[in-house]
Amino acid sequence: MKTIFDLRDNHDSEIYKSIQDLYDEKLRIFQFGDDSINACTGCWSCWLKTPGRCIFKDRMVDAYSDYINSDTVILLIDTAQGFINHKAKAFLDRIIPLYHPYIEIGDGECHHVARYKSYPDMVFFYEKKMLTAAEDQVIEDYLYRTAYHFKSKPFRIEKNPAYRLTQLYSRAAKRKSLDFATSEPMEKLVIYNGSPRKKGSNSALILKSVEEILGSRVEVRDLKETANWDRWADEFLSEKNVMIFMPLYVHSMPSHVMAFIEKLQPSAGNISFFVQSGFIESSQSHFLEAYFEQLSVRLQRNYLGTAIKGGVEGLQIRPPKMQKKFIKLMVQSIVELVLNGKFNPQTIARLAKPLRLGWGMKFLFKILSKTSLVNFFWDSQLKANQVFEQRFDAPYLITDGGDK
Ligand SMILES: Cc1cc2nc3c(=O)[nH]c(=O)nc-3n(C[C@H](O)[C@H](O)[C@H](O)COP(=O)(O)O)c2cc1C
Repeated sequence: MKTIFDLRDNHDSEIYKSIQDLYDEKLRIFQFGDDSINACTGCWSCWLKTPGRCIFKDRMVDAYSDYINSDTVILLIDTAQGFINHKAKAFLDRIIPLYHPYIEIGDGECHHVARYKSYPDMVFFYEKKMLTAAEDQVIEDYLYRTAYHFKSKPFRIEKNPAYRLTQLYSRAAKRKSLDFATSEPMEKLVIYNGSPRKKGSNSALILKSVEEILGSRVEVRDLKETANWDRWADEFLSEKNVMIFMPLYVHSMPSHVMAFIEKLQPSAGNISFFVQSGFIESSQSHFLEAYFEQLSVRLQRNYLGTAIKGGVEGLQIRPPKMQKKFIKLMVQSIVELVLNGKFNPQTIARLAKPLRLGWGMKFLFKILSKTSLVNFFWDSQLKANQVFEQRFDAPYLITDGGDK
């Protein structure tokens, strides 16, 4: 079975026929319509409370089954602000329940273990006309990376000069196209907290420490307060120093952060970014860093840089003293930015270590894999929730010899 997931706002159906002509079997069409896709809130219910099943009861409930029982999924995507828009991003974030929390290592990076025996090929289509060549490249690279993360073979459909299907191959993120710029010491830095978590947010913990040190020289705004977005987007036009701070979600920003970014207009001033992620290696965030460089150009803002820190997920379970120690360098990097008007390159380089996993870490992981220690973080919570026995459930698979 092959399924088109139409995530565009305007479902002009002409394209269906052109795409159908590329395949010799009938394509199913799944439209999302005006109903939005709930943004993932990072609650981990799909991993720890109802293994394999997302807690939300929106249209994704039907989409999961069509997705995992297809051999090919074709995603029709809208772009906004030079990236995939928040709706497409929400869809990708919500694919996470189809994988295990358990980790395996490949090519010097962490990956989630497969929950299902196979995953569909992922085919992407988006219009290029609103994009610069660099933005188009950033999106294609990001989508390649996402499919790789999701254990799917990646393809792209382009429509000019004629509709054609091309396979996407391995590539590195086109980051460092801009140097980190320098500004004056900041009177005030506005920091947007992009964690969607309602409780237990690592970002909130880190930013609380930043506020304790910098006092009125920072103003932290929580992007969950959507009622304030229009006012904040207006204020952005005259705010000199702005940072967007977020957890990494499927190699880029959480979808509500993208929805806010879509509201921002070009304006004078500085912009900086901070990305913290679950896996330890900072290479996880390189495709997002490449986008933020292009976003700064689009917004005509001075790019002060992107700080990246991996291995943050376990922060909440550390004792308070250890938490302070763990976040010290992250907090320091923001303090330096405010006091000096620029990131300290040494601090940023230290934060980013390791870029990828070296042989020592791979060896350690191999040893730990032979014990229950490597999965302790997840298994103890599965047991506490009394669903340990169900941890390998694959709830969306049709097993009656269907037409997959
Ligand atoms: C839907 C989803 C996708 C994620 N994708 C990634 C990823 O691609 N790479 C990574 O290292 N961490 C990933 N993470 C882990 C988060 O970045 C990490 O847990 C982070 O510390 C959460 O921060 P917060 O508590 O402030 O929201 C993902 C988490 C969620 C919920």
